[in-house]
Amino acid sequence: MINFKELFKNNERWVQDKLAIDPQYFKQLAEGQSPEYLYIGCSDSRVTAEELMGAEPGEIFVHRNIANLVVNSDSNINAVVQYAVEFLKVKHIIVCGHYECGGIRAAMNPSDMGQLNSWLQTLRDVYRFHKAELDAIKEDQARFDRLVELNVLEQCFNIMKIDHVQRAWYNSGFPTVHGWVFDVRTGRLKDLELDLGKEFAGIRSIYDLKPKNG
Ligand code: CO
Repeated sequence: MINFKELFKNNERWVQDKLAIDPQYFKQLAEGQSPEYLYIGCSDSRVTAEELMGAEPGEIFVHRNIANLVVNSDSNINAVVQYAVEFLKVKHIIVCGHYECGGIRAAMNPSDMGQLNSWLQTLRDVYRFHKAELDAIKEDQARFDRLVELNVLEQCFNIMKIDHVQRAWYNSGFPTVHGWVFDVRTGRLKDLELDLGKEFAGIRSIYDLKPKNG
């Protein structure tokens, strides 16, 4: 475990390492950002954003919360998504779940968890949408893993329902939405290769916000 006092020492070492490679590094960093990716992941301390992708400061716009949820009444995520698509004009939005997610595990084991109840309810709804598939999986670990993946799918849908995202699509064709899972057991990222354009086409008549002519 990292000692509290080490954090600033580590930071100083990191600064020196960056400056050794490029004395202008922080001068350039201060000039602004134009990341191509918005990453929405879990707050879990084992699932970092930039480090596991080898990305540098300035390359990924990040939002993290418990179990990587996109909740329509959450003004935090709505602001992040609006800023990312309208001002940063990101090309890709990645929803990244992870196996062994404590939020998913808690949602699968109903109990009164106080403030967490309303947050976990979104995950319990995901279970309800996919109950037939999940209940047919007899092995607990496999069912847990599958709920992690189905939660990513549902959160990708929730991204596509957002007005800022749809406006950007109709203006520029971007961003593309991707569903990934980080496997904390191997360190590997897995692209679920969801065909979200096709998936969304099936429910577009319900969620389409495109202004109607006339
Ligand atoms: Co998690």
